[in-house]
Amino acid sequence: MAENLIIEAGSKEEKYQALLPQAHALIAGETDLIAALANLSSALAMTFNWLWTGFYLVKGEQLVLGPFQGPIACTRIPHGRGVCGSAWAQNQTLLVTDVDAFPGHIACSSSARSEVVVPIRDAGGKVAAVLDIDSADLASFDQIDADYLERIVAPLAALFAPAA
Ligand code: SME
Repeated sequence: MAENLIIEAGSKEEKYQALLPQAHALIAGETDLIAALANLSSALAMTFNWLWTGFYLVKGEQLVLGPFQGPIACTRIPHGRGVCGSAWAQNQTLLVTDVDAFPGHIACSSSARSEVVVPIRDAGGKVAAVLDIDSADLASFDQIDADYLERIVAPLAALFAPAA
């Protein structure tokens, strides 16, 4: 397993290009889901220094807080609620340029201004978790983030127990 994270000092795309293989190596090197998510939240946060970077896990009809980096956060989010619950319900990545303009946004931190939430699917294609990233600046995320973040989390599918 990688012990050092190499952070590229270039554009956002260059940072993602350097991070992508390292993130995949972290996932491939660990069979425990929580251990992999913990290191992944660190690798993302260390690379980009966002306000909040972390995971919520699908448990029944709720998302429950998982490994993260940043200020303390809401522990449970109902299906369909907020950006996280909406990304889960819609089974698609949501880019929110201004959280105040998103109906039902859940403000875990008053400093959050923009957000991206990426569904993480199990091997059967069912949403099993979400990656939630909050920024203290407006419009921090675009399609480049969505594309790379989706690629970064895709191999996590192998770590979820198959749906019953
Ligand atoms: N803002 C999120 C809630 C999670 S926290 O920001 C960490 C939402 O609306 O789903």
